Amino acid sequence: MKFSEYKDLIQDNLKKYFHEYSKNSSYSSQVWDSMAYTTLLDGKRLRAIMCLEIARLFGASIDDAMPLACSLEIMHAYSLIHDDLPSMDNDDMRRGKPSNHKVYGEAIATLAGDALISFGAQLIIDKMPKYISPNVTLDIVRDYLICAGAKGIVAGQCADINAENKKIDIENLKYIHKYKTGALFKCAILMGAKFANVDKEILTKLALYADNFGILFQVYDDIIDCTLTTDELGKTAGKDKLENKMTYVSVYGLEEAKNIFYSLIDKNHGILSSLNIKSEVFDNIYNMLIEKVKR
Ligand code: IPE
Ligand code: IPE
Ligand code: MG
Ligand code: MG
Ligand code: MG
Repeated sequence: MKFSEYKDLIQDNLKKYFHEYSKNSSYSSQVWDSMAYTTLLDGKRLRAIMCLEIARLFGASIDDAMPLACSLEIMHAYSLIHDDLPSMDNDDMRRGKPSNHKVYGEAIATLAGDALISFGAQLIIDKMPKYISPNVTLDIVRDYLICAGAKGIVAGQCADINAENKKIDIENLKYIHKYKTGALFKCAILMGAKFANVDKEILTKLALYADNFGILFQVYDDIIDCTLTTDELGKTAGKDKLENKMTYVSVYGLEEAKNIFYSLIDKNHGILSSLNIKSEVFDNIYNMLIEKVKR
């Protein structure tokens, strides 16, 4: 399946799940609207696509893995809504549109983020095919929950906020990127692999691959924050400097940040070939990122 086909399929299914679960929500319909708003805006859907592509590469059905993929986009939307709040990065724009709190207010945006976390977990459990063993389901839901919380995205976001206006060491910077962004990519790749029942040895390699991807993706995001325009980004350009964030660009400079980005891509090509995996979709993803970093 092609990248754009994956993307359309994910969008259709997200819409379908929101429709199904938000029915008859009477007094809470506003929070459902807020949850659906950010989730359904046009994102790249990388986490969902990577989960599906890994599942497919190891022999699983894309259709059956779809709820997992959608749960990742739902968790991603929570992280974006909270990340944009005035008390966090204070960003008025997301995915080319007003941020969630600009439309629904801070209170509902905060609650929508909370509710998205549990919605994603429920979706995984409700839609898991019967042929998947309860142990695998438990393992996948556990990964999802750890990723959302204080050993995952929250850990990274906390460290990110604490590092504002400071000089931090490289280990701390790496920690921020590994958790605020890497945790979800790792969750995506490992959930796809576990759904396809891959063995431990392969999982270990994929975990390393995912850790590298998480870092290189956030390095990419740090780079484009200061090289692309608000229009191109769909979120406020130059925000990291404005908020005095510690990023790979602020610590290493633009050129070295690009070198680190490319060297992590090389490492990951090595890991995929050692697994004998060839994926056009993964190639597309890297090319998409490189294209933007080059500009
Ligand atoms: C933005 O992620 C948040 C980061 C972790 C840097 P994406 O760049 O994947 O955002 P969307 O989903 O395409 O909007
Ligand atoms: C991304 O960090 C981390 C999460 C959204 C969890 P950023 O703060 O750099 O993301 P953008 O640039 O606002 O998308
Ligand atoms: Mg942030
Ligand atoms: Mg931000
Ligand atoms: Mg950023």
